[in-house]
Amino acid sequence: MNVIDIRNLTKDYGKGRGVFDISLHVEKGVCYGFLGPNGAGKTTAIRHLMGFTKPQKGEAEIWGMDCRKNGAKLKGLVGYLPGEIAFPKMMTARRFLNYMGKLRKMEKISSRAKLEVASGEESKDTGTETDYVARLLQLFPLDMGMKIRDMSIGEKRKLAVITAFMHDPEALILDEPTSGLDPVMQEVFIDFIRSEKKRGKTILLSSHIFHEVDAVCDRISIIKEGRIAADFSADELKEQKQWIYKVSFETERDYNRFNENDFLCTNKDPNRLTVRLMVDMDGLNRLIPVLSGLNVTDISEIPYTLEDHFMKFYKKEDELQGEPEGGAGIWEVDEP
Ligand SMILES: Nc1ncnc2c1ncn2[C@@H]1O[C@H](COP(=O)(O)OP(=O)(O)OP(=O)(O)O)[C@@H](O)[C@H]1O
Ligand SMILES: [Mg+2]
Repeated sequence: MNVIDIRNLTKDYGKGRGVFDISLHVEKGVCYGFLGPNGAGKTTAIRHLMGFTKPQKGEAEIWGMDCRKNGAKLKGLVGYLPGEIAFPKMMTARRFLNYMGKLRKMEKISSRAKLEVASGEESKDTGTETDYVARLLQLFPLDMGMKIRDMSIGEKRKLAVITAFMHDPEALILDEPTSGLDPVMQEVFIDFIRSEKKRGKTILLSSHIFHEVDAVCDRISIIKEGRIAADFSADELKEQKQWIYKVSFETERDYNRFNENDFLCTNKDPNRLTVRLMVDMDGLNRLIPVLSGLNVTDISEIPYTLEDHFMKFYKKEDELQGEPEGGAGIWEVDEP
């Protein structure tokens, strides 16, 4: 059963901006990763799901309900973490969470005393809602008395994570949930998402971070210039018959002769006479005879990752020329 359905959704902001005829479906219990660079259309799609934006064409539904028509109801049911968070700045974290608890009719959290229990400021507690919030506050610790105005970016992001999850919603829509969190907190978040998945939660998560998407998502789509460029399961990615090789050549002549071929190189380093290339089975059969005719000083196979898969859709070979070793700008992750 699908919890989230986007069908042929179009919102054209002009000049090629927006989303164009996108469709995606998230089944119950699935964590779905929405991967794309700045301006690709992730937030635009997510805002349709939260009912903030009216589609020009197509539909956005959660639990079969039209997101625009049932916006108010869905906002209460879904856990939402916006890409840009607008908190009431003068409130403390405690007051804000109390306020959100009341809005969501969380009986146990709606009194100040109970939230103090949840934040560990008093000792014993009570029912499950409070226990769940207590767990969130343990994982993402915050000074509950601090005004939001005075919080750092990461502290605000932690507050946003707690706010999205505090009512223990069945479905969550998270727009770049870990941006601004430090690496330790990012790992805490990844572990937390894994445990929530085990509890049957349905999660749509947009991200720039390959490692995070790889770690938690069962299904992934790559969005490029407002269109879904690829949609695949984590298992399909593992089964891809693709190989990455890093090859070093003895002389500049060997390096140049190799580059006369049309292999998909994700990195070329003319100073080190090294290329990093991606091949499928056909490519591998072409590669072997080419290399055997050249002086190669080193060759190593590197595991094929989500980042490599992403690059197939995003990077043209000529854009990669002259980039530093392993370089893919903001997308870079270390090779194992
Ligand atoms: N209300 C709007 N009016 C005009 N253009 C818009 C509007 N909202 C978004 N856009 C444009 O649509 C494109 C997609 O924006 P969107 O915010 O969805 O990108 P994104 O994938 O979330 O990027 P980021 O990773 O930077 O958050 C961008 O080019 C943006 O400038
Ligand atoms: Mg965005």
